Amino acid sequence: MKDLTPNKADLDAIEIASIDEIRAVQLERLKWSLRHAYDNVPMYKERFDAAGVHPDDLQQLSDLSKFPFTYKNDLRDNYPFGLFAVPREEIIRLHASSGTTGKPTVVGYTANDISNWADLVARSLRAAGLRKGNMVHNAYGYGLFTGGLGAHYGIERLGATVVPMSGGQTEKQVGLITDFQPDGIMVTPSYMLNILEQFHKVGMDPRECSLQVGVFGAEPWTDAMRREVEAAFDMHAVDIYGLSEIMGPGVASECVETKDGPVIWEDHFLPEIIDPVTGEVLPDGEMGELVFTTLTKEGLPMVRYRTRDLTRLLPGTARTMRRMEKITGRSDDMIILRGVNVFPSQIEEQLMATGGLAPHYQIELYKSGRMDAMRVYVEANPDATDEMSKTASARMLTKRIKDMVGVSTEIIVGDPGEVERSQGKAKRVVDNRDKD
Ligand code: DLL
Repeated sequence: MKDLTPNKADLDAIEIASIDEIRAVQLERLKWSLRHAYDNVPMYKERFDAAGVHPDDLQQLSDLSKFPFTYKNDLRDNYPFGLFAVPREEIIRLHASSGTTGKPTVVGYTANDISNWADLVARSLRAAGLRKGNMVHNAYGYGLFTGGLGAHYGIERLGATVVPMSGGQTEKQVGLITDFQPDGIMVTPSYMLNILEQFHKVGMDPRECSLQVGVFGAEPWTDAMRREVEAAFDMHAVDIYGLSEIMGPGVASECVETKDGPVIWEDHFLPEIIDPVTGEVLPDGEMGELVFTTLTKEGLPMVRYRTRDLTRLLPGTARTMRRMEKITGRSDDMIILRGVNVFPSQIEEQLMATGGLAPHYQIELYKSGRMDAMRVYVEANPDATDEMSKTASARMLTKRIKDMVGVSTEIIVGDPGEVERSQGKAKRVVDNRDKD
């Protein structure tokens, strides 16, 4: 793999400013943002008043802990535009996430918000090793999802050529990658595996293709998956993180020279880690729920938004700003099986370490008598589809999960192609516990 470390001179000055400078920018912007939310969003005025706090009470960054949290349900309760802090006419773009239940959550951006977003995705891509003049194949879904358009504007802002492919049509994806020869690809890691499979199907060596870096996000993926994709394509695989409520892709992004967890773009978003049960702020380095306050968002300011993502804050390395540890899971995705907490990513890690199996998987929860039970559907590698190999792989994976994760599972090893494939975010867990 080529060394793609960006030149220092090409970075935004704030990326490598001193911590004191960054904290000063944050404090000034945080004061503005709290005031903006309080003055323009009725929910924030009510909440702050009820909690007995006022934007003027914030003298230092740590005073933020006195302010109330915002939850995903607050967006639903104020559907569609009730949390916007500017008149609807000033909103130039809407996005929405479908969510699994109920009304979608709607987010809105002013022209400045869209411009900041493009800047931050461009900054993320530069961190990933891409630069002006490169070509980037964008396979994040276009539409209401923030992935496609968020990535698109950032690629253009970088000065690169965007291929607005969107998700799906895997054969065409591979055709265009072969013909256009892009330097980078943006896509969910699970869909990248489908693209990989398609390369093999048409008898092409993915290591020979033009891709030098993949910028993967929108769903959890492990370091084991990173190694697998890097080896398969002979390219760098870096992690991009974001969520619609805060902006979309590019809230945090990993540096190609370190690959040690996404750097949070702290000049626009202030992170906190809290104890998800008590709401207490935890010191850097401790594991908990990630909470964000936007510092520059005009259309939809968010104060202490509970992401439900579990991670910890780490000190800066390639940049001054703090990093977040690669996300292992969301509190919503946590499976509690006979008292043991399990995240799908832990199953992924063990799967990747087991020979004879492809990296596709889906977990099913069901009732066995009155107890919850878990079954994992996986697939044999094309060169290990005989019954003996399948049985051996299943046994090995069962044992690894029992030893390393601490739960008993049933492993079903199917033939290649049998596990459901995703076009965007993979559905890792199917909950059939309500069914007979
Ligand atoms: O997934 C935005 C995005 C698009 C990020 C493309 C990166 C690339 P939502 O649909 O609102 O937005 O989903 C946000 O996805 O709270 C995490 O649980 C999860 N997520 C996003 N990026 C990562 C990542 C987009 N790199 C939710 N690692 C977040 C793990 C991620 N989980």
